[in-house]
Amino acid sequence: MDGRQIGIFDSGVGGLTVVREVWRRLPNERILYFGDTARVPYGGRTASEIEGFARQIISYLQACGVKLIIVACNTTSALALDKVEREFDLPLVGVLRPGARAAVKATRTGRVGVIATEGTARSGAYERAIKELMPGAEVLSQGCPLLVPLVEAGQAHSREAEEALRGYLAPLLDRGIDTLVLGCTHYPYFEDEIKQIVGPDVAIVDPAGETVEAASELLDRLDLASPAGTGPDEFTVSGDPEGFARVAEKLLKSRLQRVTRSAW
Ligand code: DGL
Repeated sequence: MDGRQIGIFDSGVGGLTVVREVWRRLPNERILYFGDTARVPYGGRTASEIEGFARQIISYLQACGVKLIIVACNTTSALALDKVEREFDLPLVGVLRPGARAAVKATRTGRVGVIATEGTARSGAYERAIKELMPGAEVLSQGCPLLVPLVEAGQAHSREAEEALRGYLAPLLDRGIDTLVLGCTHYPYFEDEIKQIVGPDVAIVDPAGETVEAASELLDRLDLASPAGTGPDEFTVSGDPEGFARVAEKLLKSRLQRVTRSAW
């Protein structure tokens, strides 16, 4: 048993879709969330920039004393995690491999669509991870650069977002996908809109569930799970804490306690 916090990070409010899963599945765990809102979006950045950000944030969370980190960012999981995780003596769980596992469980035809940031889509990381598990799979990735800025601006449920989604999803639907991976942690906020567009025959996969399962197994295996009642969560950002709290509250429909600007 270990009452220390779990660190979770992303570029902004996207990783809160993973926090939501931790609340559901691991209610005893206490979270220290880091949102890199001064540098969001990550999607158009180079691999070396993303690696640098990951090193900096992981070092910061480690110095805060977390016991495990969930990298709640597909772009970081795709572009940096394999390299950076070897440098730290701390368990790290990304979202991409769990997402690939969930996709393989969900697909019947092996034709899988992935919507993601441009960086994740261009990296081919989902394609590789899915094909490792299911060599015959056909994986179609679509970069969606307009979506993250809309979520961060509090415009997830807007006509603009719906039009952008229709444009991004049309080529995947034309190719007959039966499963769609939400390959960016900002996208589960669009789940209702996406369901409307893709219809009932396409399974929608949010990697968050499988990711938190993986974290949970690791906590159990390393004897790091928390006892009950260890205290409140904390949220810290590199940009404006009020703006973050306002958008987060609108998206999660619940209030975040303790949102601060990180002192790093
Ligand atoms: N939410 C992150 C991801 O899963 C980053 C998105 C961004 O900042 O562009 O990829």
